[in-house]
Amino acid sequence: MRIAVVGSGYVGLVAGTCFAESGNTVTCIDIDEKKINGLREGIVPIFEPGLEELIKRNVRDGRLHFTTDYSEGMKDAQVAFIAVGTPPGEDGGADVQYVLAAARSIAEHMTAYTVIVDKSTVPVGTAKKVEDAMAPIAKHEFDVVSNPEFLKEGAAIDDFLKPDRVVIGANTERAARIMTELYEPFVRTGNPIYTMDVASAELTKYAANAMLATRISFMNEIANVCELVGANVDNVRKGIGSDDRIGSRFLFSGIGYGGSCFPKDVKAIIHTADKHGYDFKILKSVEDVNADQKLLMFRKITQHFGEDLTGKRFALWGLAFKPNTDDMREAPAIVLSRALKAAGATVIAHDPEAMDEARDHYLGDEIEYAAGPMEAAQGADALVIVTEWSEFRRPDFDALKAALKSPVVFDGRNIFPRKTVEELGFTYHGVGR
Ligand code: UDX
Repeated sequence: MRIAVVGSGYVGLVAGTCFAESGNTVTCIDIDEKKINGLREGIVPIFEPGLEELIKRNVRDGRLHFTTDYSEGMKDAQVAFIAVGTPPGEDGGADVQYVLAAARSIAEHMTAYTVIVDKSTVPVGTAKKVEDAMAPIAKHEFDVVSNPEFLKEGAAIDDFLKPDRVVIGANTERAARIMTELYEPFVRTGNPIYTMDVASAELTKYAANAMLATRISFMNEIANVCELVGANVDNVRKGIGSDDRIGSRFLFSGIGYGGSCFPKDVKAIIHTADKHGYDFKILKSVEDVNADQKLLMFRKITQHFGEDLTGKRFALWGLAFKPNTDDMREAPAIVLSRALKAAGATVIAHDPEAMDEARDHYLGDEIEYAAGPMEAAQGADALVIVTEWSEFRRPDFDALKAALKSPVVFDGRNIFPRKTVEELGFTYHGVGR
């Protein structure tokens, strides 16, 4: 099939590249000329394992193209994906102005019947808005379909090529058939393609992310209770996770969720509910708990060192909101660093991928950046583990102890073997253990 993908951000690039990989001819359209020129030369603006190789190969083989020109990108396209940003608006709802702008440009340039696909996470009702925006302009028939993505950063290629399920919201048979055909190569393992009405598909994405965010806030509260009653959250997690109604994944307590999806989607669903006169109480609490949890390590630090941290120096291992990404959006590291600074401390951080992103767009020179984890630890009053990168899991503990001014660890991700480090003479503070 010939496919156009509008928006060469995270979702658009991964989707476009994976559709090319499965044999389609794909043109990615973006208004950012610099980005498009870079992509043509194989410069990928985001860090995602495996993506760069896949882009290069598909460009070389002539299946993947990049352009800023809608008439070139839309020529003969049978399916056009909209994968532009939907930033939170001032009222907490997702702002769909870029989606509608893309839809109008698609309408102007389509050359035959086209399936228009909302790939961006959009509020319920957006497909209708897209249709209304396109109708006065389009010279050909079209259907608007909702096809939410469930990609995890760091595992996006795999998630796309081997999805647990594909959700397609289509109000016509014709559009549903084309979309099913397009996704068939990805579900050869037998995983399902669910076709449903558009509103249900739109809501599915929000419900999935809100449920996962709820699990995390729930486990974080269980961890907090564990500390009070002398229980160990690792044991409780295993104990409940073996019930297959609960399942063992996504039950890790820590210092709160971040990233581009959970915070935004939880907010958006609360907002949608509010607009319809419904108070989504549980999700409001999920947000509150998460905001508190991001400061958990700060509270433990002040319990240990006192409220005034003047002259103290803290080493942060990790800045990204999770490992295997350079993404800093809503990262707990931001809130924690600022709280430490406000209490008078200095902060020095190391992250294997996210330091440029942190320096350029989030923390600037509010904190210092170290070339490696041990360099960060050198002379620090304590180590705080913020992101669970694999390379942080089993450092040379003797060297770490020698580097730190005092051997104190605040393990925000529960990655250190508590017993071992305590035997080595560290003071250890984890989450719920
Ligand atoms: C998420 C969804 O998983 C994905 O399906 C959706 O399409 C986009 O949002 P992502 O934001 O990439 O993906 O990250 P994910 O791996 O799900 O982690 C989200 C946050 O939850 C991270 O901050 C992570 O540290 C935290 N988390 C995750 C926990 O605190 N505990 C867990 O057990 C799992």
